[in-house]
Formats: sequence, C-alpha cells, structure tokens
Amino acid sequence: MNIIVTGGAGFIGANFLNLMVPRFPEHRFVNIDALTYAANLLSIQVADRPNYAFERVDITDRGAVDDVFARVEPDLVVHFAAESHVDRSIHAPQTFVQTNVVGTLNLLEAFRALPDVARRMFHHVSTDEVYGSLGPDGWFTESTAYDPSSPYSASKAASDHLVRAYHRTYGLPVRITNCSNNYGPYQFPEKLIPLMILNAVEGRPLPVYGRGENVRDWLFVEDHCEAIWLVVERGRVGATYNIGARNERRNIDVVHAICDIVADETGRSAAELRDLITFVPDRPGHDLRYAIDPRLVEEECGFAPRETFESGLRRTVRFYLENRAWVDSVRTGEYRSWIERNYSERT
Ligand code: NAD
Ligand code: DAU
Repeated sequence: MNIIVTGGAGFIGANFLNLMVPRFPEHRFVNIDALTYAANLLSIQVADRPNYAFERVDITDRGAVDDVFARVEPDLVVHFAAESHVDRSIHAPQTFVQTNVVGTLNLLEAFRALPDVARRMFHHVSTDEVYGSLGPDGWFTESTAYDPSSPYSASKAASDHLVRAYHRTYGLPVRITNCSNNYGPYQFPEKLIPLMILNAVEGRPLPVYGRGENVRDWLFVEDHCEAIWLVVERGRVGATYNIGARNERRNIDVVHAICDIVADETGRSAAELRDLITFVPDRPGHDLRYAIDPRLVEEECGFAPRETFESGLRRTVRFYLENRAWVDSVRTGEYRSWIERNYSERT
C-alpha cells in the first residue's frame, strides 16, 4: 500500500510513523509536511527506513498537493496536518482557516482526482473540541451536535464537514476520528503537559488558566495512533469514531501529578514544585469539560488503550528529562516569542 501521511513531522504524526513504518515494511509511507514551527524532523526515528520518504509540501498549495498525490497515488491518506494550538488560534485565526479548512479541501480534491478512488481511503484525524463544552455530566458521542468554541475548533469542525460532504456528494471513501487530548513524547511544549514538565524541571512558574477546574480527557499518543490504525483496518466506510480512554482530569490535578512525578524522578521536593503554580487569567471561550464516550471504537474496532494516565505521564516526564537535545531544538526564537506573547498578557 502507498500511504500519504500529512503532518508527519508534528507530535501525533511522528509518533504514528515511528510505530507504523517499522511494523509494515511492505507499505510505503510518504510524509508530507510544511515544517511549520510545530514540526521537528528529529521526532521521526524511522527516517532511514527504505519504506519511508519525506516531502516538504504545504497543503495550502493546491498545485503541490496535486503533484504529490498524482505521483504517489496513495491507497490510504492519513491526514494529521493542522494548526493545532487553541491559544494561537485566538491570536491569529487566519492561518487556522487556511491550513485546516483550505488545506483539507485541497487534499480532498487531489484525492478525488485519483484513478479508481473507490478502492482507496481518506482518514481524517480530528478532535473532540468540535463538540464544544460539556457541563459536569455526560459524554461526547458520535452524534453529539457540533458547537465549536475557538477559531481552532471551528476550523476543525469545518474540515470535518468538508470530509463528510465529499463522502455524501462524490462518494469518496472517508473515515473521521475525533480524539480527546493527547500527551506523550515529542509534543511541542506550548501544550499543557510538556509546558508544565519543562517549567517544573527548570523551576519556573506553572501558569494555570483560571482556577484549574477545566477538565480534559487524556489519551497517551501511542494509544491514539493504535486506534487510528484499528479504524483504518476495521472501521466502516463513511463512519466517524470518537477516540478516548475515560481519563478525565481537572487541569490542577494534572499539574499536581506532574509536580509529583518530576519530584520523584529528580529527587526534588514535590511541595516546592507545587509552590510554582501560578493562577493566570483564563483563556477566552475556555471549554469547561471534554469527555469521550469511546464505546463505538471499542465495540466495532476492538480499541483498548495500553497506558493508564499514571504510566503514560511517567513515560512522558522521562522523555522530556532524557531528551534535552530534542527539547533545545524546538525551543527556538519563535518558541520564546510565543511564550512571551501568550503569558506576558496573563501576568
Ligand atoms: P502539531 O501541531 O504537533 O503538528 C502539526 C503538523 O502539521 C506539523 O508537523 C506541521 O508542520 C504540519 N503542518 C501545519 N500546517 C501545515 C501545512 N499548511 N501544510 C503541511 N503541513 C502542515 O499537531 P498534533 O498535535 O500532532 O495534531 C495532529 C492532528 O491531530 C491535528 O489535525 C489535530 O487537530 C488532531 N488532534 C490533536 C490532538 C492533540 O491533543 N494534540 C487531539 C485530537 C486531535
Ligand atoms: O481535545 C483535543 C485538543 O486538545 C486538540 O484538538 C488540540 O489540538 C490540543 O491542543 C488540545 O487542546 P487543549 O486546548 O485542550 O490543550 P492545551 O494543552 O492547550 O490545554 C489543556 C488545558 O490546560 C486547557 O484547559 C487549557 C489549560 N492550560 C493550557 C496551557 C497551555 C493551562 O491552564 N495553562 C497553560 O499554560
């Protein structure tokens, strides 16, 4: 099988390639990525494998997308590429619409032009944020109405609608997965968990939005990648699957757990690390709670996560402690100016 993976130099895409390229030497994986600030080729551990290739392609460039699709003739497209950070979407929404909406449209058009498209598959990787916010009770199911709150989630919702519309209108074979919050190795340290790990390690403030009472539903990134592959193999054509592991946590409890593990791994005092917690002004439009009902993907595709939140978080802390070269390579000038911009306004 020829497989185009978009955004394979980002957090989830790189983990996906690291798992699947060695597992399936008979498949050819072509990673197309624009290499934005969020990308890092050092995250890809399989770059020297004969069944892996990288091409720098911006999915907002229709001609470049058409060209690579015509050459590779993918049997499967796994579409990760996106602008992914909610806070950045609040500062600069245009890029999110360009990449997440127009970029997805370009991919769908290039896919539609392939010969014998009915035997191929377009797998669209999306987020539970399209459903908006839950109150204290209930879960997101595949039939929950879309109600996005941020420019990021609105752009992902639009991309989901386009993928479904191309299935209904043109009969394209597609699947969509909407996943809860991922964490694990190679996550860009603008996101809550790696930011808190690195700040705790370096003794810097731990900026918790609001009172830290917002709830996220956490999934170890490799479990997400395994779920995607199960859906590729076993999912129904045209279907949507929500992916999660029933791991709801309040943000403040996540930050406490990080302080405890960092203390344990480095011989420091957990109480001193917890003293670094600083409550800062909230994110505008901050969704209160996300929680996935994963029964459909469990029952139809056999998904069962391997990591608990505790084991996955310890693996993640160890990754950031043991891979300082990777950390240094992503904390460039662009990273420092983002941190300054996002947090100076909050303090
Ligand atoms: P990320 O920000 O770490 O990586 C995104 C990748 O896409 C980067 O390599 C970047 O260079 C690439 N990219 C961005 N714009 C591009 C463009 N115009 N052309 C080509 N490549 C481009 O994101 P992530 O956290 O790995 O998320 C991957 C996908 O999974 C996204 O679609 C996101 O919406 C979805 N998702 C993420 C999470 C999560 O918790 N991180 C949860 C559910 C769904
Ligand atoms: O639910 C899936 C989504 O999860 C993905 O679609 C997004 O791509 C991904 O970024 C993530 O979105 P969140 O906004 O939930 O993740 P983030 O790590 O930015 O924030 C997690 C929670 O922590 C959220 O309630 C905001 C809070 N937070 C975040 C940061 C960066 C803080 O309290 N302080 C911070 O400094």
